[in-house]
Amino acid sequence: MLKMWKTEDSGEEWEMKLKLCGGGKFKKLKTSVVSRSPMKLWMIRAITTVLLWTCVVHLMSLGETWGPRLLKSWTSCYSHQDVELISVPAEVILPPKRVYKNNGYLMVSCNGGLNQMRAAICDMVAIARFLNVTLIVPELDKTSFWNDPSEFQDIFDVHHFIASLRGEVRILKELPPRLKTRVELGLFYSLPPVSWSNISYYTHQILPLLQKFKVVHLNKTDARLANNGLPLEIQKLRCRVNFNALKFTSKIEELGRKVVKILREKGPFLVLHLRYERDMLAFSGCTHGCNDEEVEKLTRMRYAYPWWKEKVINSEMKRKEGLCPLTPEETALVLTALGIDRDVQIYIAAGEIYGGERRMKTLMEAFPNLVRKEDLLEPSDLKFFQNHSSQMAALDYLVSLESDIFVPTYDGNMAKVVEGHRRFLGFKKTSLLDRKLLVGFIDEYSKGSLSWDEFSSTVKETHADRTGSPKMRVVIPDKPKDEDYFYANPQECLQLLDEPLRST
Ligand SMILES: *[C@@H]1O[C@H](CO)[C@@H](O)[C@H](O)[C@H]1NC(C)=O
Ligand SMILES: *[C@@H]1O[C@H](CO)[C@@H](O)[C@H](O)[C@H]1NC(C)=O
Ligand SMILES: *[C@@H]1O[C@H](CO)[C@@H](O)[C@H](O)[C@H]1NC(C)=O
Ligand SMILES: *[C@@H]1O[C@H](CO)[C@@H](O)[C@H](O)[C@H]1NC(C)=O
Repeated sequence: MLKMWKTEDSGEEWEMKLKLCGGGKFKKLKTSVVSRSPMKLWMIRAITTVLLWTCVVHLMSLGETWGPRLLKSWTSCYSHQDVELISVPAEVILPPKRVYKNNGYLMVSCNGGLNQMRAAICDMVAIARFLNVTLIVPELDKTSFWNDPSEFQDIFDVHHFIASLRGEVRILKELPPRLKTRVELGLFYSLPPVSWSNISYYTHQILPLLQKFKVVHLNKTDARLANNGLPLEIQKLRCRVNFNALKFTSKIEELGRKVVKILREKGPFLVLHLRYERDMLAFSGCTHGCNDEEVEKLTRMRYAYPWWKEKVINSEMKRKEGLCPLTPEETALVLTALGIDRDVQIYIAAGEIYGGERRMKTLMEAFPNLVRKEDLLEPSDLKFFQNHSSQMAALDYLVSLESDIFVPTYDGNMAKVVEGHRRFLGFKKTSLLDRKLLVGFIDEYSKGSLSWDEFSSTVKETHADRTGSPKMRVVIPDKPKDEDYFYANPQECLQLLDEPLRST
């Protein structure tokens, strides 16, 4: 499959990386178009089209989308030995520094878990770029539920982050001394920007503050930029940060490669983002399948956390509305109904599953090759990651990108950001479960009003088109929370299969 991005806005440098189907091996093709010669561009496009077409034909010949054969067929497109994690080519040609009149310094403190912060960092870079300010390397959340003391440079390659973006925006690790003193004296402005804003909010509300105070601190960063209605250059920059400038540290990348290699040696694998963790259940109030004692503990925990606003929750109602993560038992039924091979390796990308072995029993019985990172790695490998949930999440992120199929059981931040990244990597399959429909079918099957065959074929039919394939984002004016999230489907940055000749 194909991944392609422009390394510079000027249109002079192209990086092309082609993963060819059929051969069972990755092949890498790197082309550098030195001039803007239309002939050369035309040739690249022609080659791309042919290769894409070969891929499409190959995939179409596989027939039905969701069959028991699926896993085997799909994985023939991917190498089993030649594992390669997505990374920037070794000889990166750095763009020249962008020269601009600096309007001030932007400090940001991200909030939330790793993937929420990841998307926020992309937004903040885009905002800094369009305000012509200097960005200070974002501070990560150390007080969220995840309680991870990691700094930016413990998770991301900070040098690469700064250097690869220098053609767009100046980024510094810390404020220059003179301004640091100002900040210590409280001579700066701190505020949470209005969420889902367009860029005119930043130019009209934030820029004057920057000009007045020199240093502005954005102390909340989740979803501070709209999904839609932004200039194309902003959308593309958000992608460039996400897919190119944000690289995990080499320690995390090495461990990721190791996990993928171990899995690949045994064949294809599915990554299950089983978001059935204590915080999720306490926060959402979803207690389907929990015993009384657990329900009480989870409820107490919800009341104890001040930033979880919703306190009174009807679990069953919420579940019927499709707002709960699937339980491990529900997940077992759904994966089986979708025709996932019983013997396939399933890597659990998650922290501790609530209820432990008792709740995992059904899933383990249905899919005996269930593995976790702790099963694949030595304790010494994981030693440095313990108590650093964001670094664990980074490891899971890498494994999720590489998997043959990615199945999230809840549409949280990790599910969405990984979905978008997999689209970027050539529309790699992500199973987007419709939980509202599924719990309805599951309840009917449990009551006996649907037979297994009916249940299975209904699940397959309703999910045939929910695989992370090319599609436009759903836009709902004035309801940003309900529309498709930019990072789940950054369509502006994707080379859609039906328009490989699109010129940019
Ligand atoms: C940012 O700088 C560019 C020139 O590099 C200029 O065209 C643009 O108007 C500036 N924008 C702001 C908000 O200062
Ligand atoms: C952000 O700054 C504002 C204004 O200083 C303050 O009222 C608010 O509590 C801060 N929020 C966070 C999350 O720190
Ligand atoms: C940006 O948002 C403001 C306030 O929400 C709105 O009035 C304005 O029309 C928006 N501008 C664009 C270009 O969408
Ligand atoms: C992790 O934290 C726990 C308690 O929170 C502590 O007992 C343990 O020693 C820590 N482990 C590492 C490797 O730091």
